[in-house]
Amino acid sequence: MALTVAFEQRAGHVLLVERDPQVAAVWHTILEGDADWLAEAILDFEMDQESLNDALRRPALTSEELAFQTILKNRTHRGGILAPGAGKVKHGENGKGLRSRWYPATIRRRILDIAEIRERITFIEGDGLEVARQYAADPSAVFFIDPPYTASTKRAGSRLYLYSEVDHEELFHIASTFAGDFLMTYDNAPELRALAARYGFDTELVAVKSTHHAEMTELLIGRNLDWAR
Ligand SMILES: C[S@@+](CC[C@H](N)C(=O)[O-])C[C@H]1O[C@@H](n2cnc3c(N)ncnc32)[C@H](O)[C@@H]1O
Repeated sequence: MALTVAFEQRAGHVLLVERDPQVAAVWHTILEGDADWLAEAILDFEMDQESLNDALRRPALTSEELAFQTILKNRTHRGGILAPGAGKVKHGENGKGLRSRWYPATIRRRILDIAEIRERITFIEGDGLEVARQYAADPSAVFFIDPPYTASTKRAGSRLYLYSEVDHEELFHIASTFAGDFLMTYDNAPELRALAARYGFDTELVAVKSTHHAEMTELLIGRNLDWAR
């Protein structure tokens, strides 16, 4: 969402906030670091089980190396999951196994395209709630918030993210203080619909595809979602 806003210049500036150090390394590298190194490392990589194990076993000494490992994991772990203990892709799309989501030329191009517009984007490795509080009173700021799902939707024992716990109630409270507009995308959980009602926010269900291509619904939350109907 943020990248589209930046590419299409729909905002003067884009601020991205993410807490997971693995994901953060990708943004640090593309937006402030050696994006060319990352892009070429991806293109040069021979994807097979042995080189993957080797690449992931090596300690990452730089942000660039951690970014590379993050992308390798995201593309070869089941559902793109980065959290410790994530399973590997077994058969993948069309039975192509490990390589089924490894599109090196496309990933390289995407990284270089984002790096081209890096001056439009600032990345903060930190707490999104904290940053949201800092900008809450700014009427020129709009917020797109894509939090981890609530516990009621996450399958027991499954963990998609290293940081999968968010104070949902506090997030709604902060949103109620925004001078500008906002949009949240969430799981369709009863407690979120109740929170939205309590704060007088609008909600709308949208059909989305999960990482396993199953149809599911997500909940949009905002002040006025007439535009989505
Ligand atoms: C549903 S994912 C959204 C990812 C992102 N919108 C994207 O499309 O790549 C939720 C993300 O929120 C991050 N996260 C969890 N708590 C956070 C916090 N307090 N501040 C910033 N990011 C957080 C997780 O690490 C995870 O990457």
